[in-house]
Amino acid sequence: MIIVRSSKGGELCVDGYRVRIIEKLRLPSLNERLKAIREAFWNTFLLKNEHVFLDMLTDSGVNAMSDKQLAAMITAQDSYAGSKTFYELVKAVEDVLGYKYVLPTHQGRAAEHLLAKAFIKEDDVIPMNYHFTTTKVHFELAGGQVLELYINEALNTESTHPFKGNMDPEKLREVIRKYGKEKIPFVRMEATTNLIGGQPFSMENLRTIKEICDEHEIPLVLDGSMIDWNAYLIKQRERGYRNKSIAEIVKEMCSLADIFYASARKAMCVRGGFIATNNKKFFEKLEELLPVYEGFFTYGGMSIKELGAMAVGIREMVDESLVGSTVEQIRCFVEKLKKEKIPVVTPPGGLGVHLDAMKFLPHVPQNQYPAGALAAALYIVSGIRAMERGTMSMERTPDGREVFSDLELVRIAFPRRTYLRSHIDYAVDRIAWLYEHRELIKGLEWVYEPPVLRFFLGKLKDVDN
Ligand SMILES: Cc1ncc(COP(=O)(O)O)c(C=O)c1O
Repeated sequence: MIIVRSSKGGELCVDGYRVRIIEKLRLPSLNERLKAIREAFWNTFLLKNEHVFLDMLTDSGVNAMSDKQLAAMITAQDSYAGSKTFYELVKAVEDVLGYKYVLPTHQGRAAEHLLAKAFIKEDDVIPMNYHFTTTKVHFELAGGQVLELYINEALNTESTHPFKGNMDPEKLREVIRKYGKEKIPFVRMEATTNLIGGQPFSMENLRTIKEICDEHEIPLVLDGSMIDWNAYLIKQRERGYRNKSIAEIVKEMCSLADIFYASARKAMCVRGGFIATNNKKFFEKLEELLPVYEGFFTYGGMSIKELGAMAVGIREMVDESLVGSTVEQIRCFVEKLKKEKIPVVTPPGGLGVHLDAMKFLPHVPQNQYPAGALAAALYIVSGIRAMERGTMSMERTPDGREVFSDLELVRIAFPRRTYLRSHIDYAVDRIAWLYEHRELIKGLEWVYEPPVLRFFLGKLKDVDN
């Protein structure tokens, strides 16, 4: 954002880019949408794009790329081994994040897979501020147990706490006392904590967690898939950071982590991922696995073109003009929803706007998936494709019991640099209508339930027609 002083007092945030390529949108008719959601078995993941008006399922892999990223894709040096484009990526990681060893992976979950294989043993525990779906599955498949050590305020959907993504340091000390450091291969902190509504942690909290890790010689892993938004929110909300640049904040965050990994599909606006570290031992342990699961170390399962765009994306991620537009859009959207008294997660964070489905649909019990039902209903009334982030996104226990999610959220994601203010007005208008007529929305039940990550491919039907 370009931030200037307003002539009326206060600040004006102005987008620091312009749009030069557009994609035409089509608003399908209501009947078409009804037919489409039935054919998609009430799962918004299974909708076809031709039936979607605003695709706000995710920011992953659908952010608008920059002219410089596209140019880098053309000049990328395509080769199996030793490409100069890979070394440009290494240089970008070193310059921006401060790590010298880099392992490219085909996306974020591939990085999680390698971390799980390299470090997690049967019965280990992995403390984190909150889980992410793919993280939890990989760590559990390796025999580990995920422990979420969030602060109490994290699950309060109507809060003013600026850093709901913080980890509770006392809970971490307690876990280390209880399990012993031998059982803890690493502690994981996730920037712009996805499943609690895109909420940031503070630098102060990250530093405290790092100090505790250091006291016990436990490595700290940072999931920096959405580090851009976390850094922007630190700049806005944390004392002492107002006059620091996003580049300085990102560097400082990274200096506190022993291992960094990311899905580059998010902050870096390409399709890929990577792990980075300054620890030679960790690097060597991970490097052995790279050719087995991903590819040769100079491409790691990614196309070289995407590697080139990623090198540029990493640099642009800390460009003051380019960062923050999405956070400002989300803030504006949340403020408009609050005016309509619609239950939405506050404070606004990164990633998207999160409707609180338990408050929106108090008549739909959790075993009928209120967030899934609300996402489907939102699609019917608006053509907006959002994502269920609640019990449907959880895994059952090994003996088949349902695990109810702490929160039932409908995430209306904001791909970076993609949607406009008029889209926000449209969404608010439709959500307000839906809230007024919320008693029309009933629950869902499974007709086909996959054994893992069921939210992707699961099929449901509408209870009570
Ligand atoms: C915080 C976080 N970590 C990891 C991942 C997994 O990354 P990918 O989808 O690239 O496999 C995601 C994906 O959305 C994410 O949000």
